[in-house]
Amino acid sequence: MTDTDSFIPALYKPSSLLPIARHKEALLYTIESSPVTILIGPTGSGKTTQLPQFLEQAGWCNDGKVIAVTQPRRVAVTTVAKRVAEEMRCQLGQEVGYSIRFEDVTSATTKIKFVTDGLLLREALVDPLLSRYSVIMVDEAHERSLSSDVLLGLLKKIRKRRPELRIIVSSATLDVEGFLDFFADSDAEPSPDGHPAKIVSVEGRAFPVDILYLSEPCEDYLERAVKTVFDIHASEPEGDILIFLTGREEIETAMDMIAERLPSLPKDSDRLLPLPLYAGLSVEQQMYVFEPAPDQTRKVICATNIAEASVTIDGIVYVIDCGFVKLRAYNPQTGIDSLITTPVSKASATQRAGRAGRTKAGKCHRLYPETTFEALQDVTVPEIQRSNLAPTILQLKALGVDNIARFAFLTPPPADLVVRALELLYSLGALDEYAKLTKPLGVRMAELALDPMLAKCLLSAPSFGCLDEMLTIAAMTSLQGSVWFSHDEKKKEESARRQFAAEEGDQLTLLNVYQAFTIKGKKDAKWCQQHFLNFKSMSRAVSIRNQLWRYLERLNVVGDGAKPAITQNTLPKEESIRRCLTSGYFTHAARMMPDGTFKTIDGGNVLHAHPSSLMFNRKADWVIFTEIVETNDKVFIRDVTKIEKAWLLEYAPEYYRVRQS
Ligand code: CDP
Ligand code: MG
Repeated sequence: MTDTDSFIPALYKPSSLLPIARHKEALLYTIESSPVTILIGPTGSGKTTQLPQFLEQAGWCNDGKVIAVTQPRRVAVTTVAKRVAEEMRCQLGQEVGYSIRFEDVTSATTKIKFVTDGLLLREALVDPLLSRYSVIMVDEAHERSLSSDVLLGLLKKIRKRRPELRIIVSSATLDVEGFLDFFADSDAEPSPDGHPAKIVSVEGRAFPVDILYLSEPCEDYLERAVKTVFDIHASEPEGDILIFLTGREEIETAMDMIAERLPSLPKDSDRLLPLPLYAGLSVEQQMYVFEPAPDQTRKVICATNIAEASVTIDGIVYVIDCGFVKLRAYNPQTGIDSLITTPVSKASATQRAGRAGRTKAGKCHRLYPETTFEALQDVTVPEIQRSNLAPTILQLKALGVDNIARFAFLTPPPADLVVRALELLYSLGALDEYAKLTKPLGVRMAELALDPMLAKCLLSAPSFGCLDEMLTIAAMTSLQGSVWFSHDEKKKEESARRQFAAEEGDQLTLLNVYQAFTIKGKKDAKWCQQHFLNFKSMSRAVSIRNQLWRYLERLNVVGDGAKPAITQNTLPKEESIRRCLTSGYFTHAARMMPDGTFKTIDGGNVLHAHPSSLMFNRKADWVIFTEIVETNDKVFIRDVTKIEKAWLLEYAPEYYRVRQS
């Protein structure tokens, strides 16, 4: 044993104390002998961080093979990879690496690879049998994310051709019968006793959690949450607080409200340290949450659903649960994809409460009455039943699944969602009238890691003579989170934004921002600060743009292999860009009403320009938009650009003919 081997950083509990350690041999035996292992274990039992290490030690990475561990969320991928790299004392990207869209931190030496479920699906386009992997662990399968559901279907198919592949389905909840049945009716080689899948349960190390309800429903859960924080701080022993809220804006408001009340704390009392945790934060920003609080300080983590199961934060003793979550819901009638604040399910509420009992007995304050809890749905509706399926179907088609109805879905998607997706893909030109992928457009759209509408814009950009600009717009709109900095100085931010404003709308404004950053700002951090721009986001945009360029090169859309585009270069550049955007986003068209709101083409929905949009308080006639967000009872549209009505008929004659009849 060398010196470094005997050195265990004081920060870590020895992993031998984690519940999963006692099951190591049994787990390895099951995985060895059974093609599919279903692993049940409560959050924090060591599934994600320990099992891949056991497998690596047991030789599953011999002959250059790799263990893949999928997560539904990007945040979980990066934090977990970082943790495992630390435990194995290697540099992130070496033996342990991760891969998320537009960010690949792996190398030829990588043995354990954390990856989003969506990205692993994409890998199957290039390597249909996922042959580099000896083991694929679909983690957090109980969350039923769209991509993990589809991935399970694909793995079931791959298993027939690769009997040596090991599949691990891991779940933090007990209802795994569905997974068991799913793999049972498979015509691949069963294990000696007949069933291809085996269940292994790892007990938790959970301490009891007291659940406290309100006696009456509360009017404003944000205010109530903040009050509860201060009540806990005044009367309860030490231990950090975790508040579940629905999104970034709420989190920022709650942090402000807590900060405002901090001066009212008695002089001799411990401090409170509010910290945010949501998907749009950079990896560095997220890390504060995982660091132990300074002396005599209580952390108050304001988090979205991320903290429910996929990341583990030590030291939480108090949970405050607002009872809501933002869920994507797609309406196939209107074609509108929205993020709606919905009551959580019982399973979710239970998961959230469990976060309090990890290190000692804890308390969970539910900001609703017990009768409300009783009335909650048991489980959250799987994403596949409430999503826009166009990206998924496009991908399945590219993977050679022609008959969507016959694909092995864990839960089949509703027919109207499938029909709507096929319609959209057809009108975008990705599918032909026999619902087959078109060549080259459909094939190329599937290979670009972008929303199909945006992919269409990018692929038609050469014919509009605006490829450079569209690449930039695609990169800027693919960023997670805003390019604008510092929410506490909203006013200045707005005037800074005005400098870049383009009359034609948000996409052209983003283009101006990017061009200014790369030309006038020389990609400099200081320049960003002066203009209230987030330097990290801007640098990311540059990197995403480069990657998109390389994708297009590989697809022969640009570079030596590309055919020269036939362009109508007589148009002003802005108009070409707006026309190009229309060719992809025509289903997201709306018209401004005299009162400044917007209506969709069928006149059914009243839409509002999002306050972050330039079209907020501006005049326009027809517009297209990329995203629609429903908050409370208002429907907002984001990334709005002015267009001409005639263009809709020009670029989507079929779509609008069908609609009008
Ligand atoms: O996947 P599962 O929820 O079963 O547990 P895990 O994520 O593997 O976490 C096992 C243990 O590692 C937790 O109990 C935490 O104490 C620790 N951990 C941590 O401290 N920091 C992380 N970023 C991840 C895990
Ligand atoms: Mg886990």
